[in-house]
Amino acid sequence: MKTNTCSVSLSINGEKKTFATRPDEKLLDLLRREGYKGTKYGCGQGTCGACTVIMDGRAVYACLLYAMQAEGRKVRTIESMGTYDKPAPIQQELVAAGAVQCGYCIPGIIMSATALMEAEKDISDETAKEYMDGNLCRCTGYEKIWVALRRTIDRAAAEPKKKASAKGGKK
Ligand code: FES
Ligand code: FES
Repeated sequence: MKTNTCSVSLSINGEKKTFATRPDEKLLDLLRREGYKGTKYGCGQGTCGACTVIMDGRAVYACLLYAMQAEGRKVRTIESMGTYDKPAPIQQELVAAGAVQCGYCIPGIIMSATALMEAEKDISDETAKEYMDGNLCRCTGYEKIWVALRRTIDRAAAEPKKKASAKGGKK
């Protein structure tokens, strides 16, 4: 008898996994079913950004992709980021800026910000705004999120300089 199931093999947060799925299952539904619940369901139609994950280095909406489209790809979810005890710089800055209210948008915002910082150098406000354009927040008015993002970008930019001067100091 013909069944409507198939499987998808991908890397999630650096681990190779194979899951049973269906041709019509969305990547977001598969991730949440398999326990990656930090990736949120918001609009389900590519407008809010709550479901943002990084696939092969690009921020994508998991609600718009079929699970099968992740075959052989590298997917990163919010679970790959820092922990409560050891938050990533963007997480530290979001908290420090008071940029988290209900928090529903935050995993998607963190993943878009991470994709931005990994893909671009010398990030201008315009470039940052382009990357973050697809992530909506209903609570904060964006100002504090923006402050946190800018601080994280500036911190990352200062990091190599700090390392270089530390090396220089040892000579
Ligand atoms: S849930 Fe995917 S963009 Fe809103
Ligand atoms: S903090 Fe509530 S939607 Fe952004």
